[in-house]
Amino acid sequence: MTKMTKGALVAGNWKMNGLKASKAEFDKIVAGIAERGDALLCDTLICPPTTLLQSFASAAASTGSSVALGAQNCHPLVSGAHTGDISAEMIADAGGSYIIVGHSERRLDHGETNDDVKAKAVAAHRARMKAIICVGEDEETRLSGMAENYVTAQLVKSLPDDCSSDNTLIAYEPIWAIGTGRVPSVADVAAMHAHIRSTLERTKIKNPNKVKILYGGSVKASNAGQLMSADNVSGALVGGASLKAEDFLGIIDAAYCV
Ligand code: PGA
Repeated sequence: MTKMTKGALVAGNWKMNGLKASKAEFDKIVAGIAERGDALLCDTLICPPTTLLQSFASAAASTGSSVALGAQNCHPLVSGAHTGDISAEMIADAGGSYIIVGHSERRLDHGETNDDVKAKAVAAHRARMKAIICVGEDEETRLSGMAENYVTAQLVKSLPDDCSSDNTLIAYEPIWAIGTGRVPSVADVAAMHAHIRSTLERTKIKNPNKVKILYGGSVKASNAGQLMSADNVSGALVGGASLKAEDFLGIIDAAYCV
């Protein structure tokens, strides 16, 4: 049994889920984190839909909670004639400090390219926020044995030229594991995270050894401990299991019971 090191991040991606009434669930997450107090070894983040960001951020601030808030996407520009889009500055203004960029659902649903993802990460940095850059292969690529090459290309092309471990995190999310209940073996996760680490070392990113590399894809309380104990895994990006406080808190607890 090893203890997770302080500084790991357990992040919840609520995707397109949540109405005003969901604040009750968020309040339970905040209360659960407060209850754990100093025993909490990981940092926590919730990325709700943008409609809920401001109210969640205000609630967290008013209770002095350590939970950070973030968004799931942004437009690369500061402002302008871009109907329906939201800038990184607006997200910061609403209380966000992280932006997930390049999630596979955005790459697939909206045709976002690596260049788009890079521009969004630059926007997050411009607004003084952290970018969580998502990469991950589909099943066909995994089966063809080309997953590492594919992820290298995504990573190198999506990473801003001037970034550091302070403002950039990577999330490895194999597409075939997202929302499916299927999870790669811990050995496969460790191998890909080691590969991502060595790829980062070949880029211009500052402090590549300190960059947090999160694993995402069907993380739940029962597998989180094992996944997060793998080398180079610095936390988790959690979709479905972040929507219920009990499940999300279970993952936080697994983070230091592995
Ligand atoms: P999941 O989603 O935990 O529901 O598999 C993860 C993600 O897409 O970030």
